[in-house]
Amino acid sequence: MTKISPSILSCDFAKLKEDIDTIIDEIDYLHIDVMDGVFVNNISFGIPVIKSIRPHYTKTFDTHLMIVNPERYIDAFAKAGADLITFHVEATADVENVINLIHSKGLKAGISLRPKTNVSDLKPYLNMVELVLVMSVEPGFGGQQFDPTAIEKIKWLKNEKVVNNYTYEIEVDGGINGETGKLCVSAGADVLVSGSYIFNATNRKERIDSLK
Ligand code: DX5
Ligand code: ZN
Repeated sequence: MTKISPSILSCDFAKLKEDIDTIIDEIDYLHIDVMDGVFVNNISFGIPVIKSIRPHYTKTFDTHLMIVNPERYIDAFAKAGADLITFHVEATADVENVINLIHSKGLKAGISLRPKTNVSDLKPYLNMVELVLVMSVEPGFGGQQFDPTAIEKIKWLKNEKVVNNYTYEIEVDGGINGETGKLCVSAGADVLVSGSYIFNATNRKERIDSLK
């Protein structure tokens, strides 16, 4: 069964809880996009927002850090209530250290890569992580068009997983809708992140069902 992780980046932040309440019963993870204006050309929100919404929900907080040197903030995100922390391999000089830090907080660790990064760069870390996040848009903004090069990456990750008996989930993020989501799942994706496709719809449940 495909898991769905809606990105709250597409919510109306003036009524964030109301927006999350409309989808929370239908979903598996809640995708939380943190941007620092350095790793990506946008600033979203951070630790206080996660801390505020945490007491209201029990679903997995799937935290996607688009920040440089994420090792600086793992403790803070853990305390704020993240369950799963995904960071970018391009954002740190010591990927293994960040994975270990996340695990030391009792959380699941995910690694991600920009569309132009070679997926084989992830190979040394595949036996250490619980999730691999394939970006199908340049990180920074919601509402962009799906980059089909993600499909080959998903297939490669699926093959590595099967051949080596790895346990990570394969998640894909950016431009996911009913059609692109289907392509990703056929290629081997386990978790679909979706922002604008879900939150811009009047019938959000219908959109989530179409992804499932
Ligand atoms: C992009 C974010 C995505 C994005 C998804 O940097 O990581 O989660 O908001 O939004 P859509 O589904 O609209 O592409
Ligand atoms: Zn994301």
